[in-house]
Amino acid sequence: MHDRETTQDAHGMIPPAVPQEARIGPFRAGDLVAPDGCAVDRRLFVEDSVYRLEQERIFARCWLYVGHESELQGNGAFITTTMGEDPVIVVRDLAGRLRAFLNSCSHRGAKVCRADKGVTKTFRCPYHSWTFSTEGQLISVPRQSSVYGEGFDRSLLGLREVPHVDTIGGMIFACWDPAAPPLRDYLGDMTFYLDLMLTRMEGGTEAIGGVHKWTIDVNWKIPSENFAGDHYHVPSTHGAGVEMGYRSPLTNNGYCIQTGNGHSIGSERGGAQQGKAVQTGYEDFMADMRAQLVARYGEAASAFTPIGVGTLFPNFSFLDSARFRSFRVWHPRGVDKIEVYSWCIVDKAMPAELKAAVRKQYSLAFGPGGIFEQDDGDIWQSVQDALRGHVGRQGRFNYQMGLGREAPTSQLYGPPFPGSCSDILMTEANQRAFYRHYARLMTDKEA
Ligand code: FES
Ligand SMILES: [Fe+2]
Repeated sequence: MHDRETTQDAHGMIPPAVPQEARIGPFRAGDLVAPDGCAVDRRLFVEDSVYRLEQERIFARCWLYVGHESELQGNGAFITTTMGEDPVIVVRDLAGRLRAFLNSCSHRGAKVCRADKGVTKTFRCPYHSWTFSTEGQLISVPRQSSVYGEGFDRSLLGLREVPHVDTIGGMIFACWDPAAPPLRDYLGDMTFYLDLMLTRMEGGTEAIGGVHKWTIDVNWKIPSENFAGDHYHVPSTHGAGVEMGYRSPLTNNGYCIQTGNGHSIGSERGGAQQGKAVQTGYEDFMADMRAQLVARYGEAASAFTPIGVGTLFPNFSFLDSARFRSFRVWHPRGVDKIEVYSWCIVDKAMPAELKAAVRKQYSLAFGPGGIFEQDDGDIWQSVQDALRGHVGRQGRFNYQMGLGREAPTSQLYGPPFPGSCSDILMTEANQRAFYRHYARLMTDKEA
């Protein structure tokens, strides 16, 4: 995992083929993921042993999105979230440095912070009141001298710190693996597309309106692979959105791009062709941003404003549409459940009334009450339902669509545009790349 995957195989696909004879838990890798990623075994979504291995090999090793810098304004500001199933506190310490800690007391494990967010000078554990600084040190123990006496060393009992925290374009990522590559290497060529999305306006982005949080009974990979670029589902799953005029019928005129390490994006050229039922003024704003990006990267940049959907491996996705932009994390909560965290993200420089209009559009379409989000959640839950029985967990899902259409993105859009690209919207190239990378991590003990 620690190499950057930028080499394409004979079919233009990255990463390399799945090592068929290696083991994924009790299973042969080749029985779970086909070498080209065209077939994925149903057991991957229901087996507890696979899920436990994912916590170790994926969630404890990959860089994970833990929040947005705009949520941590001022020293002592904190948010709580999870990395995989591990609860963490993300805090800007009293010296202004971003840090992350396991949210579990070194005494007997209670969560030392139970709030979603706030500003504090210390974290006091509610169980026995051990108190920790924003730098993670144990600074106070009730009755220390009378109940512990000599030889009790507070300096050995700080909170467990996440070794790596870094930011890119306002996004905060953290990683448990001490040997992990730097964040920019992990993201690799995806940094180019994140730049297109996040720095198209002076001042960058901010999260507004708090975080929507809700649960769906589905394995975390199903939404991750959907947002990696499953455009094929849009006319069917979201058909009502077209009928009500919210968006125009989907064409096949778009791109799906894999940038290595399981990351990918996809969109209709220039963003989804929106229906006329809703206008916010964001469209005009977008035209300005598009012009600025074209001046910087050439005419091809117009195809990437807005940039569409994408997934940063393993479980962070975004949706950058012509009406709003959302970040979301699909937190695993057992093999058949996720907790979704979803944010509305705007460009800081936008006028306040436009930010409010964009936020309304986000809530109308996505978030727990959003019409499109509910379409997706309902279908995903039905997928998991159908996998519960003895027969339903047998066999394979199919990811053959568009096989062999991948080519270097630079051939289609020019030299600055990296990755491997299919010049069509309806392909499963991004999902194949997701599962090929997944299998590589799950079978690679050393990385
Ligand atoms: S578990 Fe935190 S003080 Fe005892
Ligand atoms: Fe959808």
